[in-house]
Amino acid sequence: MQQVLVTGGAGFIGSNFVHHLIAATDARVIVLDKMTYAASPAALEGLPADRFRLVVGDVADAGTVGPLVAELTGPDDAVVHFAAESHNDNSLRDPSPFIQTNIVGTFVLLEAVRAHDVRLHHVSTDEVYGDLELDDPARFTETTPYQPSSPYSASKAGADHLVRAWVRSFGVRATLSNCSNNYGPWQHIEKFIPRQITNVLAGTRPRLYGAGANVRDWIHTEDHSSAVRTILERGQIGQTYLIGADGERSNLEVVRLILQLLGRDPDDFDHVTDRAGHDLRYAIDSSRLRAELGWSPAYTDFEAGLAATIDWYREHRDWWEPAKEAVEAGYAARGQ
Ligand code: NAD
Ligand code: TYD
Repeated sequence: MQQVLVTGGAGFIGSNFVHHLIAATDARVIVLDKMTYAASPAALEGLPADRFRLVVGDVADAGTVGPLVAELTGPDDAVVHFAAESHNDNSLRDPSPFIQTNIVGTFVLLEAVRAHDVRLHHVSTDEVYGDLELDDPARFTETTPYQPSSPYSASKAGADHLVRAWVRSFGVRATLSNCSNNYGPWQHIEKFIPRQITNVLAGTRPRLYGAGANVRDWIHTEDHSSAVRTILERGQIGQTYLIGADGERSNLEVVRLILQLLGRDPDDFDHVTDRAGHDLRYAIDSSRLRAELGWSPAYTDFEAGLAATIDWYREHRDWWEPAKEAVEAGYAARGQ
């Protein structure tokens, strides 16, 4: 039976991937997660006990990682590496855990898969490429030069470089993916879409950074999971694949759509202090993944996906409400 070690498997995307893998394959899954503020134990409930195990630990701790990777002795066994500090705004306040988890953690994992010759898939972000002009006809491709803007994106870029160096210098069997902005259930309420949905549900107004002209390329987390599984199964070792679903929208459009879907006046939001160094636009060209590996997204209607996500937050108040006050107090302290 195939065994897959999923780092960061208690987070927003990692937990979706764990459910996806259990449903779509016969694999046995081991999650390694430090259970930071971003982890959701509830997102891992209901998984079959004979196919799922949670190990609480730090991906940057070689003493934890080494023995877990050593368990992966089957020909199809693999590590899928999601564990990261993931929020740009937090990285502007304190970059240090981003360097430790995203760079040192990836280094520790690379040394373990090198020592035990285990296949690795490394999950990264399109933010490593910096940003595009609003009217730039080009989108990010696998050959776009790296130009990260924030401590978060720089730490992910550093991790990507390490993975490529370990492939070339040591023959580590790794693939990489860089995905655009995800939305869907279980996303932490510090992030843009869940923050605005839960603001409206909690009776406060959405908060838009600056003018809201910044563009993000939205993909449903289910589609990110199916893409990562496709790359794990059919991707070429050493190759990078960009994952995206042609979902470009300005933040202003998204805020207005959330308000509309919740039956509110679409102008019922506040403009707040902009993010320092705020990237203007991200846009992914995912042609390689589609042409070479035959992947395509299932969630092609953003409005329908967003409406379902809103319903999910409406039905899971008990999950997000306890964190809401502290998250908003943190933003308020920075004028956001
Ligand atoms: P998340 O913050 O929701 O989850 C991260 C998980 O990693 C949490 O469960 C946390 O406890 C765990 N973790 C943090 N530090 C750890 C450590 N030192 N050791 C072990 N576990 C640790 O993040 P997410 O949004 O699910 O992102 C997952 C991955 O996908 C990240 O690598 C991120 O860079 C990448 N990504 C995210 C997006 C997005 O839109 N959210 C887009 C593209 C790529
Ligand atoms: P975010 O979810 O933090 O993702 P990323 O920084 O990785 O793109 O933010 C998405 C966009 O929304 C980004 O342009 C910043 C903006 N934003 C707001 O306008 N208001 C908010 O309250 C937040 C959290 C983000």
